[in-house]
Amino acid sequence: MTQVVNEQHIYVADLNELSVDIGKKLTISSVEIALFRQENGEVLAVENRCPHKGGVLSDGIVSGEHVFCPMHDWKIDLRKGEAVAPDVGCVKTYDVSIIEDKVYLLIS
Ligand code: FES
Repeated sequence: MTQVVNEQHIYVADLNELSVDIGKKLTISSVEIALFRQENGEVLAVENRCPHKGGVLSDGIVSGEHVFCPMHDWKIDLRKGEAVAPDVGCVKTYDVSIIEDKVYLLIS
């Protein structure tokens, strides 16, 4: 369940709900977003839609700061949102704050 803390920071999860290397899907204002917890405790967030043909990135195989789309295996950089060459495309990324083990998305 999401909770609006102020007009832009939205609480989306407790950090301990997120597993390293397993994407978590959530929906905010009808936009599906994927969260990926990193080994260092950082959380990266991208729109949950592959720039190729809309594959569900939260279901992909995670490798560090990248996820491999489950549809056709494009490799997406979770920090930049860009497909890794030779593929070309970009997915929206979101800023994440973690405050006292609670994860917030900055929605602009
Ligand atoms: S839909 Fe993601 S690689 Fe094709």
